Amino acid sequence: MSETFDVAVIGAGPGGYVAAIRCAQLGLNTVCIDEWKNPKGKASLGGTCLNVGCIPSKALLESSENYFQIKHKVSAHGIATENVSVDVPVMIARKDKIVTTFTAGIASLFKKNKIKSIHGRGTLLKQESSANAWQIKIDDNGSTEIIQAKHVIVATGSVPRSLPFTSIDNNLILDNAGALALTEVPKRLGVIGAGVIGLEMGSVWCRLGAEVTILEAMPGFLMAADEQIAKEAKSIFTKELGLQINTGVNIKSIKVSNNNVIVNYSDSNNQEQILEVDKLIIAIGRIPNTTGLGVGENGLLLDERGFIVVDQYCRTNLTNVYAVGDVVRGPMLAHKASEEGVVVAEMIAHIAKSQAGENEVVDFNTVPWVIYTAPEIAWVGKNEQELRAAGIAYKTGQFPFIANGRARAMGETSGFVKILADEKTDRVLGVHMIGPHVSELISEAVMAMKFSASSQDIACIVHAHPSLSEVFHEAALGVDKRALHI
Ligand code: FAD
Ligand code: NAI
Repeated sequence: MSETFDVAVIGAGPGGYVAAIRCAQLGLNTVCIDEWKNPKGKASLGGTCLNVGCIPSKALLESSENYFQIKHKVSAHGIATENVSVDVPVMIARKDKIVTTFTAGIASLFKKNKIKSIHGRGTLLKQESSANAWQIKIDDNGSTEIIQAKHVIVATGSVPRSLPFTSIDNNLILDNAGALALTEVPKRLGVIGAGVIGLEMGSVWCRLGAEVTILEAMPGFLMAADEQIAKEAKSIFTKELGLQINTGVNIKSIKVSNNNVIVNYSDSNNQEQILEVDKLIIAIGRIPNTTGLGVGENGLLLDERGFIVVDQYCRTNLTNVYAVGDVVRGPMLAHKASEEGVVVAEMIAHIAKSQAGENEVVDFNTVPWVIYTAPEIAWVGKNEQELRAAGIAYKTGQFPFIANGRARAMGETSGFVKILADEKTDRVLGVHMIGPHVSELISEAVMAMKFSASSQDIACIVHAHPSLSEVFHEAALGVDKRALHI
């Protein structure tokens, strides 16, 4: 008889491992199944986020920004530097160490919370009606194990979307994993897709000295962001960093010749162009990962784009089967995945204890977005074009970092904060930031929106001086046209 658990989580990314921890904290006997192997062939928990996503990319962004600052910016502070160089293998090794520390940390958390961790690919079989439990087959290197669980949380994440006419070799043509593992700075780097990965990884290698050209299919730049923020960002990225960004392109072919990658594309004027580079990153979005999950056999419902169909509580069409994170609708963000994991764990605990009560749902309107470029970009809630399209009357308050003492002292004066508030009620509808450390500043905006604050509520809060948070405060004052320092 196979072992039976209260909950089986398939996938140990930020959706799955957080769900498993919360289930265990709530007293549920929990197993987490994950198939990830690191380049050394060892099991490595944490999914995309820890292994080839959020954490390693931020490590390289930090290292490359330090180099860029020393090379181009510290002289303004009177600091002279000579012969500054970068040792890419050391930089990559530092990033790898951060990754292994964190992935091992998840294993420790599993141990501490008495979560059984099984390495291998989990396939959801069928419900064992006698035990009212689901069967899951786990395959690992030729060995097979079957376990049973009353509840299943699918958290199998996403994988890079590929272009039909090329394949990733992670030598010349790279996905996110390859882009995080280069051992030297390419002289010429091409990036297909000016989305979040394209901009973050393009920034890393551009700061380290690569000549970076980004080819984007959409006619505009960063169309998910507020238009004004996108305009400012494009101007800074091209003028200050030196990214070459071409929008409105149509990629025709990608070929490898003499160790170079040759991209044929038509530009926004329909002119045929050729881009020849040493390395090419393809970052054109990610697709939900349901490979090997047994979707066909168990009748799990997918939408037309391959996402597992769930309701607001992350329930699938199968009884006691839930799905969270990148494999379901909504933003593909680690914090969204984790929050869904917590919500589902708490719901299962309620069901297990036969407790009634209102279940929480994740409020997508207050999920923050951050792009870790320099300057950083962050937003929460609606942007101006969305409010206009919805016919919602709003007022704006805006304040630039250049008028802030702390930003001046830091020498980081680009960008601004913009608050959008309802014309009648003054309730904050969206906050948009571009500037230094806005990845941290956005949390105050998220909290304000979560508590349904008005711009005047924020205006009434005392902010430390001198601090970057004063820019947010002044933007709130600006909604009522009473900003003080402008
Ligand atoms: P994943 O993290 O993808 O984890 C899924 C896990 O399930 C994997 O370990 C996979 O091996 C395993 N799995 C899949 N199928 C099976 C199976 N059948 N059996 C067993 N195991 C299986 N988000 C942010 O919020 N902030 C960032 O700064 C950020 N930076 C990013 C940078 C990059 C380069 C990339 C690629 C992504 C980044 N993201 C970021 C997005 C973030 O990584 C994802 O949103 C997040 O990892 C999704 O979590 P998840 O748990 O749904 O899936
Ligand atoms: P993305 O969706 O952010 O950007 C992909 C870009 O590629 C889009 O601008 C799209 O128009 C463009 N594109 C698509 N097909 C194309 C084609 N054929 N030719 C040229 N351009 C094309 O996807 P990306 O950058 O791959 O990242 C995937 C996801 O990972 C993000 O959407 C985000 O959810 C997550 N992520 C989050 C980060 C963060 O929170 N800081 C960092 C990195 C990734």
